Amino acid sequence: MKKILMLTLIVALMVTMLFIGTSCKEEKATTEEVTEEEVTEEEVAEETTAAGALIGVTMPTKSLQRWNQDGANIKAQLEAKGYTVDLQYAEDSVATQVSQLENQITMGAKVLIIASIDGSALGEVLKSAKEAGIATICYDRLIKETADIDYNVTFDNFQVGVLQGEYIETALGLKEGNGPFNMEIFAGSPDDNNATLFYNGELSVLQQYIDSGMLVIPSGQTDFLTVATPGWKAETAQARMDNLITANYADGTVLDVICCPNDSTAIGSIAALDNVGYGTADKPYPIITGQDADIPNTIAMIDGKQSMSVFKDTRILAEQAVAMVDAILKGGEVPVNNTTDYDNGVKIVPSFLCTPIVVTKDNYEEALIDSGYYTVDQITK
Ligand code: BGC
Repeated sequence: MKKILMLTLIVALMVTMLFIGTSCKEEKATTEEVTEEEVTEEEVAEETTAAGALIGVTMPTKSLQRWNQDGANIKAQLEAKGYTVDLQYAEDSVATQVSQLENQITMGAKVLIIASIDGSALGEVLKSAKEAGIATICYDRLIKETADIDYNVTFDNFQVGVLQGEYIETALGLKEGNGPFNMEIFAGSPDDNNATLFYNGELSVLQQYIDSGMLVIPSGQTDFLTVATPGWKAETAQARMDNLITANYADGTVLDVICCPNDSTAIGSIAALDNVGYGTADKPYPIITGQDADIPNTIAMIDGKQSMSVFKDTRILAEQAVAMVDAILKGGEVPVNNTTDYDNGVKIVPSFLCTPIVVTKDNYEEALIDSGYYTVDQITK
């Protein structure tokens, strides 16, 4: 009996030891796995830098709808990832934007996302940012004449102009040899790099028809600076359109097309046309292009006053900017898809270009409503 008891005890002891041994091994294995998966010191440091890091976001103005959306989208998306955001609007004053950037540098921002007002006026403040080790991203508009800018996130701006030009080409049947038609051209703000890209994109399609005489410009105004709209202001475009009408169309000359680079210049042109009674069977609205698919312009498209707009989904642009911030602060490859075209005069700024699309009366529901960009209420008068 004693023997049996002894044997049982020994077996129990062996089983226990075996169990302890196994569980130790398991524990060790788990520890080893943890060690293998353990984040490197560098990664820990990066995560610490990223956690709650301050990101400075500067937008040009609250007066245009798009920048309000851009700012709100970037802020929401950055905050959702745990960043702290300082979002500023400069009401189109370069001095205000510079002082907002100086503040963000002093506040210890880790990355600055900048939609500039004057693309060539930020050299000094960006130098300070570089010295403070802050990464910088041009948002939508390229910042020029400085080496102290790291990345650029924007839409394919030349393509925006191409889409506007192609719309006019198709709507008039220019390829089929139709014409001649009367056209006036507007360009954007000369201090905004995008304005030149839009203009060049439009003319890459339309210049051939101007040269062949199928597109006639009764005012004779075609050169970029003459047709530019400083500050992209609707009232500036309206004033120029008033003058163009008085000088060239008051005698009943038909105006077939106004090539507008964006929605604020389109709104200005439409206001000038409305003031002199366009929109009747005798005096129909010309083809009018635009960009941004702003709410008043979407309504104008539904009403048949504006023909098209180039839609640039600001949610996607914000997403790309946030992906850049994440990669910069957490390590990893910063997403770029163009390293050739955005030459700022000092360097080629690595860029991510998003894709713009055409919206018209025919597809605005799918592009703007179904996609959740606007609610039906927002575009109902
Ligand atoms: C933007 C356009 C905008 C314009 C005026 C450009 O830089 O790309 O979307 O309409 O500025 O704010």
